[in-house]
Amino acid sequence: MSLQDRHSRQPHTTFGWYLLVATILSRWLVLGATAHVAAWTKGMYCINGTTSGVDDDNTNSAVQPLYQLQKSDWWFHHSNNCDMFPPSPGDFLELPANGEFTVEHAVNRAFTTLSYQGTRVALYGDGQDHPGLGVTLDGKADVNSCITEPNIHTQNETMAAGTIFAISYVSDLTNVTEDNLVVFTVLYHTPWRRLATYKVPNLPACPDDGCICSWGWVANGCGEPNMYMLPYRCRVTGNTGSAAVAPAVPPVWCEDDQSKCVKGAKQMVFWNQLEGNNVEVSGYDLSGTEKSPTYNAKMGFSDGAQSDIFLSAGSATTTYVQPAPKPTSSSARNMHRNSGTIFGLTISAFALWSLLHTVL
Ligand SMILES: *[C@@H]1O[C@H](CO)[C@@H](O)[C@H](O)[C@H]1NC(C)=O
Ligand SMILES: *[C@@H]1O[C@H](CO)[C@@H](O)[C@H](O)[C@H]1NC(C)=O
Ligand SMILES: *[C@@H]1O[C@H](CO)[C@@H](O)[C@H](O)[C@H]1NC(C)=O
Repeated sequence: MSLQDRHSRQPHTTFGWYLLVATILSRWLVLGATAHVAAWTKGMYCINGTTSGVDDDNTNSAVQPLYQLQKSDWWFHHSNNCDMFPPSPGDFLELPANGEFTVEHAVNRAFTTLSYQGTRVALYGDGQDHPGLGVTLDGKADVNSCITEPNIHTQNETMAAGTIFAISYVSDLTNVTEDNLVVFTVLYHTPWRRLATYKVPNLPACPDDGCICSWGWVANGCGEPNMYMLPYRCRVTGNTGSAAVAPAVPPVWCEDDQSKCVKGAKQMVFWNQLEGNNVEVSGYDLSGTEKSPTYNAKMGFSDGAQSDIFLSAGSATTTYVQPAPKPTSSSARNMHRNSGTIFGLTISAFALWSLLHTVL
């Protein structure tokens, strides 16, 4: 009996298929197949999405990649107006001087502790634990392809491009320039898992209204070689440093000759845009892959806190900045909770039920 026959004889099977398709579609919508990754944290812009007056638990506004855009569009993710939705007054990404801070790399706010009381978080930023990611076929189509679930543009953890945070000692986003936005921390082999901890050098205190920070990622090929530049309001806490941050210059490709690497304060990498690129590369890297100017040693970026970005001691005034109160113990617990699987299982069970209902 053909599928056609069955459909005409048993009208309810059509409904079964409808349910199955609807289930798959809704799951796809939740996972956001076109989505990539953002660094989610208090203090970020467009944390609630980009619709005025709406707090979207399921937003992926911040994760839309930047590729071949005009500068007015890629600069601080203006392409979808992310930069027009500042964090709530008093919300800052806190940077403990000589300490560290943790953000969540995820494909949607849904899979962070910022949504649904953290009930959908898992080891990776798509709400899944992915045992064997980068080793088995988990998240990829075949052995040689790149991981697409989550969409992290890499074959495995070793190949993950590296991500950064940069800081500008101005309080108004419109006052940030390439030169005053300095990369102060690099985290090699990310984005990979959801939780990502960056080290902070001996940064001086921000102005009273805080600083502007940015998260950067240049995908290491493995799909569209796009870039990220997200805005945050940030401030340095604790015992702050005595040296101001130097003006930044563009990094250069130096894999083949470490003496060519730019020392000291470096700009973010602006690449693969229609205009405003500050980095040019051509040809192949030492492994024979097309050059990709990512945040790692090939571009002269060391891993961890960038301690070489400062002017001389005494160029800034030291102080003590009280950190905001720690999150409550329940939300701290949620940082490590894993209930994403339950959500996934429920949907899979429903899909299976629809399928069986149709076949039987
Ligand atoms: C996001 O939504 C929450 C809940 O409605 C609200 O308290 C908060 O102020 C909003 N944040 C921003 C930046 O709009
Ligand atoms: C990671 O992927 C690269 C590129 O496919 C491969 O050369 C390398 O052997 C892999 N590393 C590990 C640890 O699997
Ligand atoms: C910031 O930019 C505004 C114009 O957008 C300008 O009026 C102001 O002087 C600038 N502030 C600083 C500290 O450069």
